[in-house]
Amino acid sequence: MFSTATYTERRKKLRELVGSGLILLFGNNDSPANYPSNTYKFRQDSSFLYYFGLQRDGLVGVIDVDNDIEYLVGDEIDIDDIVWYGSVESVGEMAERVGVKHHAAMRELADIVNSARARGQEILFLPPYRFDNKIQIMDLLGIHPSAQKEAASLRLIKAVVKMRTTKTAEEIEELERAAEIGYKMHMTAMNLCRPGVTEQYIGGMVDGVANAYGCMVSFQTIATQHGEVMHGNPTTAPLQAGRLMLVDAGAETNNNYCSDNTRTTPVSGVYTEKQKEIYNIVVECHDHVLDVAHPGVKWWDVHFAVCRIITERLQELGLMKGDVEESLRAGAHALFLPHGLGHAMGMDVHDMEGLGQVYVGFDDEVRPSTQFGTNALRFGRRLEKGFVLTDEPGIYFIPALIDDWRKNGTNAEFLNFDKIDEYRDFGGIRIEDDVLITDDGCRFVGKQRIPYHVEDVEEFMRSRK
Ligand code: GLY
Ligand code: MN
Ligand code: MN
Repeated sequence: MFSTATYTERRKKLRELVGSGLILLFGNNDSPANYPSNTYKFRQDSSFLYYFGLQRDGLVGVIDVDNDIEYLVGDEIDIDDIVWYGSVESVGEMAERVGVKHHAAMRELADIVNSARARGQEILFLPPYRFDNKIQIMDLLGIHPSAQKEAASLRLIKAVVKMRTTKTAEEIEELERAAEIGYKMHMTAMNLCRPGVTEQYIGGMVDGVANAYGCMVSFQTIATQHGEVMHGNPTTAPLQAGRLMLVDAGAETNNNYCSDNTRTTPVSGVYTEKQKEIYNIVVECHDHVLDVAHPGVKWWDVHFAVCRIITERLQELGLMKGDVEESLRAGAHALFLPHGLGHAMGMDVHDMEGLGQVYVGFDDEVRPSTQFGTNALRFGRRLEKGFVLTDEPGIYFIPALIDDWRKNGTNAEFLNFDKIDEYRDFGGIRIEDDVLITDDGCRFVGKQRIPYHVEDVEEFMRSRK
């Protein structure tokens, strides 16, 4: 965790931005996997971590903005817990560590909330995503879980988004650490990539690196020869010569800052000519982001600059046709790129997605789209120094989508379906790195580059042990 001052300063700023009310920031509880005491690895809520920094389950942070009082609420562990888990800090000690003056037991939370309501204070909370927290909110505030997303405080959401989107120097250091682990994960995958090795083995070894150097993976690892499946979980299928292995994986540091990278590696060690043609378009898109993303530019425009490159290059290969600008407006490129160029990243790999994507990635100037493909763009607004986003262009050949569009004549004036059919079993390619917006441009997060230019990938595959 960071210094006590980091957390007290963050809460002070939050109080200023929110202005009034009683803020409840719910930490997470342990979550059972298949019976109560066999839990998934504990993951603290990111906003709770951002303002209170504590990794213990079963805590709630309370900020009384009007009266300038803060509480850490949680129960002390008892002797049975100590027998199984060892001795841990008291709630009071934890509160002191993050500069919070008051602490209370969980049964006292209702009194704190009821007293505030009796004084006419508004109770502010973020949209909950865990069922146990939804039940607690229902018990405390009488709001049914189905109504809690709408009842969450927009003022609080906007304040949290404003603060968490711009990364400070100490956060960037953490993201650099996550990138180092990500580098090791992907080099492990590329090192193991050869015919006969299963996707599951690759995925497992990649996860092991994340676990060994950080606290966990930042999302379930994608390791697949079916890159066209956006979230292709690793299967027991052995890698086959001639195919492409797409690995999309990231780490979380012990302080829960993330990395998110994707590489698409030829199982045989070299790309075929057909693969190289498509792969190099994705490389061009990936590198283009570095040239054009800087403060003041709309990420929406960067996304569409990449879609333009894809459209022009696929026209050159005969897969697309027609007026490029009209094709872009119609969203014909989404047959090949059905997702956005990138998303904000920080303590959540899709940063703050649970708070509402429209508040994270959009504003009055840039509104989200409902058009297929562009509706998956999670960020569109103007970039600012300190923003961290992923740069993850891809080109995919999704047989079911190709068939669907062909049958319905979707964007038929911009697509050569007969030619596209020649790529039905191609799979998919994505290249992903994380970029930090700087004073006058942007740079990749992480000092070491996982190879992605064709020559570098093939050279690595040739020279590895
Ligand atoms: N791993 C999901 C993503 O790249 O956004
Ligand atoms: Mn990814
Ligand atoms: Mn990503």
